[in-house]
Amino acid sequence: MNIAIVGVTGVVGETILRVLDERKIPVDELGAFASRDRDVPLHFRGRDWPIRAATPDALARGYDAVFFASSDDASAELAENCARSGAIVIDNSATFRLADGVPLVVPEVNPHDAAADHRIYPVANCTAIVLCVGIAPIARLAGLRSVRVATYQAVSGAGKAGLEALAYEEEGASTSAPTTSMKTPFAAPIFRNVIPLVGSTIDEFGDSGEEKKVAAETRKMLGLPSLHIAATTVRVPVRFAHSEAVFVETERDTTVAEIGAALAVAPGVVYHATGIVTPRDVEGQDLVHVARVRAEGDSKRHFQLWIVGDQVRKGAATNAVQILELLVARGFVGAGSARVSTP
Ligand SMILES: NC(=O)c1ccc[n+]([C@@H]2O[C@H](COP(=O)([O-])OP(=O)(O)OC[C@H]3O[C@@H](n4cnc5c(N)ncnc54)[C@H](OP(=O)(O)O)[C@@H]3O)[C@@H](O)[C@H]2O)c1
Repeated sequence: MNIAIVGVTGVVGETILRVLDERKIPVDELGAFASRDRDVPLHFRGRDWPIRAATPDALARGYDAVFFASSDDASAELAENCARSGAIVIDNSATFRLADGVPLVVPEVNPHDAAADHRIYPVANCTAIVLCVGIAPIARLAGLRSVRVATYQAVSGAGKAGLEALAYEEEGASTSAPTTSMKTPFAAPIFRNVIPLVGSTIDEFGDSGEEKKVAAETRKMLGLPSLHIAATTVRVPVRFAHSEAVFVETERDTTVAEIGAALAVAPGVVYHATGIVTPRDVEGQDLVHVARVRAEGDSKRHFQLWIVGDQVRKGAATNAVQILELLVARGFVGAGSARVSTP
């Protein structure tokens, strides 16, 4: 298969490459793209691949699949052209997620939404994916009337800049070196702090962009357009893996035992009937962990749970590669593609 990655030098792009290798995806030609050319090539499976600036021409050279892990702007500018050239586009940006008729596939939750006539597959918001994998088994068991979630989001959710900002602040706190300023993606210092704003803006209703994505994309993935969802998204000084404190109201009566049994057999989920799980436990994993499931008092419809998942892997790169595997298994990849042509 001929595969390209736009954003191959970023946190998600590097992880897509790792996951392709781990899952033994056949790669005949690799297109490695970033915002600009690099002098040093990328080493993958014994070969060196040049890293080039992403351009419409360079991306329309017969790739079977193109992963976007760059920015909303780059996807808006380049993705549709890739799809027209015959590639399946798997896009980690927010650009196409809520477009009508565009599926938002999490293979453990809604694989049936993939269809032969779609060429662009957005990967949902990382917080929403982790949430959906954890609550979809409850939706299937007893329906969902409402979901409330408070998140504890890792700095890597803001890409390399997020990891660098935390490292820089940590180092500054541990040395007496004079502080220099550094551009940070966060609205406040992140070291020894929590920041109740993920993203940079709050709308007229008081919601951040991340909070709106979590609500709208969760409804779409679960196929529950009128589900009530309220989210407060918070950045914490954790490197990898998002945690979520979730409060659900079900449509029908159920019990903690029934929910636990559903979670224990749910695809992509590790259920902890006892004890706790933390982001450090799940860093580098593809499974979403659910713990501390409990009823609110003697309620049969109100439950609380704690969900943790590595958002760079299951929330982005692994979900993207799983979409490719799903499409390959269904024979949707490859039609119309040719060998990658050289410039
Ligand atoms: N980090 C997460 O947990 C996460 C989770 C889900 C979704 N996402 C989404 O995944 C995408 C990548 O995020 P990230 O965290 O990996 O960011 P990142 O670490 O900042 O990396 C961004 C990558 O995109 C490239 N890039 C930027 N502008 C470009 C352009 N105009 N054309 C081509 N390439 C361009 C960068 O190349 P240079 O190195 O040349 O600048 C770099 O390779 C974003 O859309 C983000 O919202 C991220």
